[in-house]
Amino acid sequence: MTGTLFGVGLGPGDPDLMTRKAARLIAEAPILAYPALKGADSFARAIAADLISPGTEEIVIDIPMTTERAPAQAAYDAGAARIAEALEDGQDVVCLCEGDPFFYGSFMYLHARLSDRFAVEVVPGVSSLTACAARAQLPLVARNERMTVLPGPLPDEELRQRIAGAESLAILKVGRHLKRIRAVLDGLGLTENAIYVERATLPEERICPLADAPENAPYFSMILLTKGADPWL
Ligand SMILES: C[S@@+](CC[C@H](N)C(=O)[O-])C[C@H]1O[C@@H](n2cnc3c(N)ncnc32)[C@H](O)[C@@H]1O
Repeated sequence: MTGTLFGVGLGPGDPDLMTRKAARLIAEAPILAYPALKGADSFARAIAADLISPGTEEIVIDIPMTTERAPAQAAYDAGAARIAEALEDGQDVVCLCEGDPFFYGSFMYLHARLSDRFAVEVVPGVSSLTACAARAQLPLVARNERMTVLPGPLPDEELRQRIAGAESLAILKVGRHLKRIRAVLDGLGLTENAIYVERATLPEERICPLADAPENAPYFSMILLTKGADPWL
């Protein structure tokens, strides 16, 4: 019998936003796996830290700090190979994933490499999108409205076109792209509708109008924008 791979969503940062199923799987896991930017602490591990039992084996997937795809893909190849060995031995592996595993989640890279050979269960988590909207008290979409989710690294022209056509909008992966995204929103006259949310649900959380956002944003930041004024009243 081979083991089962669990891809477990941890929510956006506050450990209280983890599902009971995720918490149980982490506490009982013989082996945990999680990605960490090389040389940095793993955010996913930090969210789950209080639940990890002493003696749990940990597979750290070191992701190199580069925007090129190939080195990260090689790191996931190596991580998947180590996880596969444990699964072959009949051990279950619980993979930690910030937010939801299938919403821009790192678990997708392991799922793609292992799901054709092993039993996999995906445990959904509270995504950063819904967490940021809740913390900003910004209802996102109702009735037949459309929600657009954009990654901040997209080129300016594509951002401009997609933002112009959007009703309700979230821009993820803001980080070092903040200045550029701001310029695109300014050009469309939308800055005053936009809310900046940084490290939602964590003690260092920051929420403010985009116009008041800091010059430098961390990776864990998002811009939310709805175009109507109190559209649900
Ligand atoms: C690779 S995606 C991971 C998304 C995650 N799987 C989820 O379900 O939310 C990382 C991006 O999610 C957003 N994000 C994740 N956690 C966040 C938080 N606590 N506060 C604000 N944005 C967050 C940021 O835009 C960040 O750049």
